[in-house]
Amino acid sequence: MKALVTGGAGFIGSQLIKTWLQIDPKVSITNLDKLTYSGDLKRLEELRGNKRYHFVHGDICDAKAVRKAMEGCSVVVHLAAETHVDRSLYDGKTFFESNVEGTRVMLEEAKEAHIERFVHVSTDEVYGSRAHGYFKEGDALAPSSPYSVSKAAGDLLAISYHTTFGLPVVVTRGSNTFGPFQYPEKVIPLFVSNAIAGEALPLYGDGRQIRNWIYVEDHARAILHALKKGKPGEVYNISSATELENIVLTKKLLNLLGKSVKLIKRVKDRPGHDRRYAIDSAKLRALGWKEKAVFDRAFADTVLWYEYHQSWWKAIKAKQNEFQSFYRKAYAGRVKV
Ligand code: NAD
Ligand code: TYD
Repeated sequence: MKALVTGGAGFIGSQLIKTWLQIDPKVSITNLDKLTYSGDLKRLEELRGNKRYHFVHGDICDAKAVRKAMEGCSVVVHLAAETHVDRSLYDGKTFFESNVEGTRVMLEEAKEAHIERFVHVSTDEVYGSRAHGYFKEGDALAPSSPYSVSKAAGDLLAISYHTTFGLPVVVTRGSNTFGPFQYPEKVIPLFVSNAIAGEALPLYGDGRQIRNWIYVEDHARAILHALKKGKPGEVYNISSATELENIVLTKKLLNLLGKSVKLIKRVKDRPGHDRRYAIDSAKLRALGWKEKAVFDRAFADTVLWYEYHQSWWKAIKAKQNEFQSFYRKAYAGRVKV
């Protein structure tokens, strides 16, 4: 079977490709990725020379490039997206280009190519915030950041291609993901790398916001499970059993690194900050998926991974014109960087 994965040079996409090649000897994968600031082929170095893996540098908004990459494929897993909430507050345009228009191009080309299964990778953030209880797949969407609105638009568009054209689409909505090789703008790699460097950890607001945390390999396996067992036109939530307040997560991380809580710097809250993300993943579990990772173990391994792979994230953080200029904009009036 030939598969097209988009965004495979990213954090979750690269893990998904490695896991898929490992568990399915019959699959060969084309990875279509634009290599934006967050894409990095170093995540896939172990696949060098693997004849079942093929990289194509291209944009999902470019219909011709998508058509060519999709040639001969029967399955598509679409992860390519702009993914960071803070960036969407300061530069929303690229979010709507890649997450909405890019998704439309992917769906249109998949329809023309008679793709047999199209998995659209969405996020729990499309439901918005919830104080108590858990969102189920049939609940209304109420996204609150430009990022989550752009993801909700792509998500609903994907479902519309099933309703309208019969394209066999499956949508997954995953929770906050952690593990090796995550771009160091997201809270865990940002805080671990700052702590190692002895820099402040900018904790937003009161730090009592809650996120559900899933290990990257579990998220990748869940997407592949939805691909195999999911029903066309259906949505599947993906989450773990671990819900934590940001302040608790931050203290755990400092403890693992043997660093002082004095590194925590409370800064002005993210505008429109969602208080709690919470989804019920019983629907996918009923199809036989369950997570393998035990949070404390996987989290400790992840922190250790960043300690042992400092050259990877230091090279990213050293790119002054990219990483730092974003942070100057994002944190203007919030924290000195
Ligand atoms: P990431 O930012 O690490 O990777 C995104 C990848 O997409 C990069 O390799 C980038 O180069 C590529 N890309 C972006 N725009 C593109 C375009 N126009 N054309 C081709 N490639 C493009 O993101 P991630 O954390 O790996 O997230 C992957 C997917 O999973 C996204 O759709 C995201 O919304 C979803 N998701 C992420 C999380 C999370 O916690 N990270 C949780 C739930 C869902
Ligand atoms: P993030 O990793 O950006 O993921 P998301 O916004 O998609 O959940 O942030 C996770 C949580 O950590 C979120 O509640 C915001 C918070 N956070 C901070 O307190 N400080 C930071 O510098 C960042 C990046 C996030």
